Amino acid sequence: MSAPSFSPVARAFAPDALGTTVHLRGWVLRTRSSGGILFLLLRDRTGIVQVTARKDALGEAAFTAAEHVQIEGAVAAEGTVAEDRRAPEGREVRASRIDVIDSGEPFPIFSGQTEEFLLDKRHLAIRSQENVAIFRVKAELLRAFREFFDREDVLEMTPPILTGNAAEGGAEAFQFDYFGRPGYLSQTAQLYLEALLFPHERVYALTPSFRAEKSRTPRHLTEFLNLEAELAWCDFAGLLDFIERMMVETLHAVAQRRAKELTLLGRPPDELLALHVPFERVRYTDAIERLQKMGFPVQFGSDLGTAEERALTLESKNPLFVTYYPRELKAFYMLQTRDDPRTVEAADLLGPEGYGEIVGASVRETDIARLKERIGQIGAKADEYEWYLDLRRHGNIPHAGFGLGVERVLRWMLRREHIRDTTPFPRTPSRHTP
Ligand code: 4AD
Ligand code: MG
Repeated sequence: MSAPSFSPVARAFAPDALGTTVHLRGWVLRTRSSGGILFLLLRDRTGIVQVTARKDALGEAAFTAAEHVQIEGAVAAEGTVAEDRRAPEGREVRASRIDVIDSGEPFPIFSGQTEEFLLDKRHLAIRSQENVAIFRVKAELLRAFREFFDREDVLEMTPPILTGNAAEGGAEAFQFDYFGRPGYLSQTAQLYLEALLFPHERVYALTPSFRAEKSRTPRHLTEFLNLEAELAWCDFAGLLDFIERMMVETLHAVAQRRAKELTLLGRPPDELLALHVPFERVRYTDAIERLQKMGFPVQFGSDLGTAEERALTLESKNPLFVTYYPRELKAFYMLQTRDDPRTVEAADLLGPEGYGEIVGASVRETDIARLKERIGQIGAKADEYEWYLDLRRHGNIPHAGFGLGVERVLRWMLRREHIRDTTPFPRTPSRHTP
């Protein structure tokens, strides 16, 4: 006998499936048996279906084996698709055969367990329906970003993760021994993307960034996905237009394609479909004024922390650009505003509802002398940046770029309290396992 070809669980819900025989396989969500009937919820990547098995149809031994399958055990089932008003989604599969693939040990995860325990068991916790929904949305978001860049004729690049200098300054770089010399985990792909812009003009990369920040906040990870782009010939206005268009188009796409998951996670897709361009733009100095009126003890030069960023968008449904930050608060490569040298042509995009910074963007400094001055001010050695300064010596042109924290965007989209929920295996100062 040849092995049956298996159908996805979703097949059982096709309009023409009633009365047909299906062969399914997957994992057991839960079982219940009463009076010689076993009800088994079977999950695969396409859905969940109730499989009903009678002892007389299966035979004593097979029935007992199926009855003893643990939560998350694996089975294959053959049966007929039937209507059943009591079953989830109105259909069930009446089994003629159930083969136990792995009966499984008792599943250690159940309701009411602590956050710490669930993080210890993260390799199993990722199977929950909530986590399935989260990572389907994440995959869709990444797909939508890539589609957007494709439409905009921006080319995907593969910058290195292992580097020989700390791109944005030393303090937050993870250092390791690279064959007797210091090596660092990438904090940003930006400097490499700037180099790649000269042959390709419009480039992006989706790579992990690492930050050795000890800050235990609900919005910091030590490893996160940084979606970064560099655009040749782009000025500040063009940069902000690009970012807001990207946000609206990609989030609309996700809202349309993952409506079920978003609803399950507590974010009605309509709220994302309501996002629209243009996003409000407020100068840093005006933001400071707004904050002062709210009672924050801030002045020109104050960094905007979690509380300040939260206050600026708590009441809004659309993201907000804060622009023209003081030079000292921002990275060395940002363009000094020509008519206001205290500031740089930089913007942070703050998520709505108080979620804080999700994108950091700027026009890049093209003046070598100013770059060297800023590199000195951050306490870095100019010779480590020689290769970067070379870019200003050969076809130096105006350009701009940004980095978007994928998990930051998801935290807002999915209304998560903590950013660690948006990555399958979160890395924080207190955890790098499993
Ligand atoms: O603002 P950041 O540090 O900017 C850069 O890395 C630039 N070189 C990007 C560029 O222009 N190419 O980081 C970019 C974004 C932030 O806006 C934030 O959303 C996210 O990355 N981010 C973090 N996400 C999670 N955990 C952290 N510790 C993060 N640090 C930054
Ligand atoms: Mg930033």
